[in-house]
Amino acid sequence: MSKVASDYIIKKIKSSSRITLGLATGGTPEGTYKHLINDHRRNGTSYKHVTTVNLDEYVGLSGNHQNSYQYYMRTNLFDHIDINQDHAHLPKGDAIDIEMECKRYEELIENIGGVDLQLLGIGKNGHIGFNEPGTSFQSKTHVVTLASSTREANARYFDRPDDVPTQAITMGIGTIVKSKEILLLIAGESKKEAFKKLIENDVDESFPASILKKHHNVKIIVDEKAALSLEKGKIPISVI
Ligand code: PGA
Repeated sequence: MSKVASDYIIKKIKSSSRITLGLATGGTPEGTYKHLINDHRRNGTSYKHVTTVNLDEYVGLSGNHQNSYQYYMRTNLFDHIDINQDHAHLPKGDAIDIEMECKRYEELIENIGGVDLQLLGIGKNGHIGFNEPGTSFQSKTHVVTLASSTREANARYFDRPDDVPTQAITMGIGTIVKSKEILLLIAGESKKEAFKKLIENDVDESFPASILKKHHNVKIIVDEKAALSLEKGKIPISVI
């Protein structure tokens, strides 16, 4: 999955060096970022003119905190490629005025001309970014209270479960679906139910990722473990 995703991203960068990528954090894209770094080292694919905007950031953590997504992005990708880090954007989780920060981030995405290719993961509850079930499909960048299942899923990165922040800033669902193209990555057995629901359920705000069915340019790259829940032949699917 990671190789297919990274090959696709590299192809896009090569055909348009000034591309704006929307990036995600978490376990799912880690392998993809490793492949991008290896390719940069071996083949010299350049990120000099690439702009990036990340989906989300925890409220209350500065960019230097080792659990912040800013830190994740630096250590998992930005420090290992030739991107201009002034062009690599994330919401500021330690902003004094969080509401203003949401507004600033939404405007920033608009001002840079929107996202060309957005990388997404999916939560077990169908969240995209940190847009938990029930979030409006029209939402813009906003502050969210994290679902307890999301805090539990992310506790693996923190010393103590209670250390997981309770809030985050996230691109809204309306922000995400404005992206010209979306690449959704789904991996592992823990995501098989989410994948099944995504394919089989109706488009409904109780399952945020379902909105992707209405987007005109979405590709889903799914590994075998996450795809196992689907009956063969139900959808045209090639399992990696
Ligand atoms: P994960 O998170 O990649 O760590 O599973 C994905 C998500 O919650 O969107």
